[in-house]
Amino acid sequence: MCTPYDIPAAEMRECLGSYCSGLTVISGKNAGGELVGMTCQSFHSLSLDPPLVSYFAGKTSESYSVLRRLDRFCINVLSSDQEHLALRFSQKAVDRWSGTSWSEDCFGQPVLDGGILSISCRTHREYDGGDHFINVSRVAQLRHDRTKQPLLYFRSSFAYLPATESA
Ligand SMILES: Cc1cc2nc3c(=O)[nH]c(=O)nc-3n(C[C@H](O)[C@H](O)[C@H](O)COP(=O)(O)O)c2cc1C
Repeated sequence: MCTPYDIPAAEMRECLGSYCSGLTVISGKNAGGELVGMTCQSFHSLSLDPPLVSYFAGKTSESYSVLRRLDRFCINVLSSDQEHLALRFSQKAVDRWSGTSWSEDCFGQPVLDGGILSISCRTHREYDGGDHFINVSRVAQLRHDRTKQPLLYFRSSFAYLPATESA
């Protein structure tokens, strides 16, 4: 007999950490030039036609309260040498942008240098997702660096693809 039970948050977090993902930083700049950015594991490719991706942001996130009001923003998929950015853009009470190297996309939004993929977006829809918002984003432009390897996240730790032997 299979009996459902109330899943404690700690069990949910621990078990779902076995789902391996990449890592992103969602970045943006408002009309006043204020920069915002947050590390986000919950990024997904969603639709080809129209081109949509999605990410989930905690309802208490101060960064998302800024990002959701921006007309445009950028999703930076991190490469294997960008752990420091994953940590930096998740910390409170630090200037997340200090010492960070970035440039602007053609919409004037900040793109972190050295990523494996950057996706220029605008918000398409926002949905309720429990204690998170589900942001569905329309893709406007893609920049891809095929020489990079991805930064992975598995059971609360960074992880890396095994090195492949060159031919
Ligand atoms: C590896 C990692 C993955 C994270 N993934 C998410 C995520 O998918 N969604 C989210 O809302 N916060 C995520 N966070 C937390 C945010 O980066 C950040 O700490 C949180 O938004 C609090 O900062 P804020 O209030 O300035 O937004 C993640 C943090 C880390 C270290």
